Formats: sequence, C-alpha cells, structure tokens
Amino acid sequence: MNSNNIIIAIDGYSSSGKSTMAKQLAMNIGYRYIDSGAMYRAVTLYGMRHGLVTTDGEVDVPKLISSLPDIHIDFHLEGDRQFTMLNGENVENEIRTLGVSNCVSPVAAIPEVRHALVKMQREMGERKGIVMDGRDIGTVVFPNAEMKVFCDASAERRAERRYKELTDKGEKVSYEDVLANVIKRDHIDETRDESPLRCADDAVRLDNSKMTIDEQNRWLIDLFNKITNR
Ligand code: DC
Repeated sequence: MNSNNIIIAIDGYSSSGKSTMAKQLAMNIGYRYIDSGAMYRAVTLYGMRHGLVTTDGEVDVPKLISSLPDIHIDFHLEGDRQFTMLNGENVENEIRTLGVSNCVSPVAAIPEVRHALVKMQREMGERKGIVMDGRDIGTVVFPNAEMKVFCDASAERRAERRYKELTDKGEKVSYEDVLANVIKRDHIDETRDESPLRCADDAVRLDNSKMTIDEQNRWLIDLFNKITNR
C-alpha cells in the first residue's frame, strides 16, 4: 500500500450515479471501493428476513438494534465485480430490489445502526487507498478525507436511471413508483436528525444530469490528479 494514498469520499443523492463513478475511479487508480449504501441495505434485508422490518418500512427498532452484533457485512471481489456479503451470503441482487429500497431510509435513520456502520466504515478506511460512496462520508465518516465530491442530478433523471437499472434486471416496476421512491428517500435522507444528507463545506459539487459516464470519469480522474499532484 502506497503511503501517499488518500481517502476519497463521494456523497450525494440516491441514484445520482455516484456508485458507478466511485467504482470506476477506484478501479482506475487501484484503490478499494466501498459502497456504504449497500451496508445500510444489508442491515435492512436482515431486518426484513427476521420480521423486524415490514414491507411498509415499519421497524422494530429495539430488536433491530439488539440484532446488530449478529450482522456481519463484507465485500467479496471477483475480477472487477464486487458482491455484498451478509453473514457469508452473497446478497448483492436482493439488496437492490425496490422492496429493500422502500425500507432502507427508516433503517438508515436509526442512530445505533449508523454508529455501528460508521465504525465498520472507519476501520475499512484505516489504511487509506479507499473510495467510499454514501451520504455522510465527507461529513461524518471521514471529515478529513483529502478528496470530497458531492453528486447531484434532477430527481427525474435519477429515477430514469434507477428505472432502467431495475427493469434491465427483470423487476416489474413503474417509472412513477421509482420516481416516488427517489423523492421520498431524498426527503428522509435530508431531514433525519442523525447525519442528514448534506454537502460538506469542502466538497466539490458535481451536477451530472447532462454528463455521460465517460465525461464523469474523466472529470473525477482530473480532480484526483490535481489533488494528488500527479
Ligand atoms: O446509495 P443507496 O441508494 O444504495 O443507499 C441506500 C440508503 O442508505 C439510502 O436511502 C440512504 C442510506 N445511506 C445513508 O444513510 N448513509 C450512507 N452513507 C449511505 C446510504
């Protein structure tokens, strides 16, 4: 591991394309990529499977909190693909369903859940050389990250992306339902008491509504090179 490695925090709204760009950047520069949203999704899936989170997003908060020590989350790398592991099981596909998306925000608003996951995330970043994306990475998890980006795009553009992602995987969803989910999650993420979604004062803002993925990737590499003087 290179001692000049830095921490890169990429935050932003749901489906703002941050995972795609964070993953690509990590691959280009040889860093580890961590999708912190996948960790909140995995806790939600665990809760749903154990009857602690209903399909309407009702959460049995005390029971979910007491289950936290039983929830082990890891990432498994296979070539350029990464899978989220929940207690040793690959749950990558299941955590991306609209069912989990509909319930994840109330789970992510529970302070004890956030504290447990933030602790894991900080451990993952101990040796730097990491790109982590989420909502509070530049503000709470790594306030001293050397590079911070905050991604935004219109709710409609983000819903289009999510709709395509879900229907490509064969999920039967309507665009209207996906848009409603995006808007509802934005609201919960921005207004929760514990680490609400906001742009860190020292983050660089990126509105990628009209950018192609290639343009985004180039923009990000340029910023990385500038920050690390490469
Ligand atoms: O990025 P995503 O859509 O996969 O995130 C899923 C949910 O997890 C999202 O509704 C907000 C929450 N989240 C969070 O609160 N903090 C993070 N660092 C990452 C995600």
